[in-house]
Amino acid sequence: PSYAALIPAAGSGTRLGKGPKAAVTVGGRSLLAWATEALAPHVAEVVVALPGGLSLPADVPAGVRTITGGATRQDSVRLLLEATHAEYVLIHDAARPFLSAEIVQAMQAAVLRSEAATVALPVADSLVLGDVNTEQARAFWVQGVARENLWAIQTPQGFRRELLQYAHAYAAAEGFAATDDAGLVARLGHTVELVEGDARLFKVTRAGDLALAEAFAGPSES
Ligand code: C5P
Repeated sequence: PSYAALIPAAGSGTRLGKGPKAAVTVGGRSLLAWATEALAPHVAEVVVALPGGLSLPADVPAGVRTITGGATRQDSVRLLLEATHAEYVLIHDAARPFLSAEIVQAMQAAVLRSEAATVALPVADSLVLGDVNTEQARAFWVQGVARENLWAIQTPQGFRRELLQYAHAYAAAEGFAATDDAGLVARLGHTVELVEGDARLFKVTRAGDLALAEAFAGPSES
């Protein structure tokens, strides 16, 4: 079976405050270099969605194709899907640099079995529904939420390409938005297999995440 890795990296990186995340470096390498190097050995092609006017960081391996992304992550993925003919696709956020070969291979096996799968991590912390009081600029406990059977969704997510394209078209027609692709496929009533992930697959979103990522990356070579 043929696989493409599709990397949405067209966000503006507002929460991190360091410009578009694709070019942000961790351990002396760009986030995109980390992500593409983890995926490239396992797939026939890698396609990256970038913000308009931006080109690939110089440390990304040769052969990676680029497109201009859309206004939302969902739009960027829809455009990436139009840029490949591969039978199966692995969608991976550029913002998750520490992706192991074991997880990529576990995902490829799951996609062949189930047509749709995502990496996910069983929730370890206690969970609560909170309420933000904007006047006081404080948050308060409303109600505890049982964490049994709750998983936090990570990427990569894998799909038979035509299934995910159908799910995107259906979501667009319905005006349904989700923060990930597996959510669009689950919305169709289709099975989505959960493959147990890894704490190291965390998303570099806020400034504190960058410090954690630097620690994981180890000393920079440059
Ligand atoms: O905003 P969030 O952290 O959910 O973004 C997840 C991924 O989606 C990031 O890698 C980001 O660059 C990408 N994205 C995109 N196009 C957008 C917005 C976000 O490719 N318009």
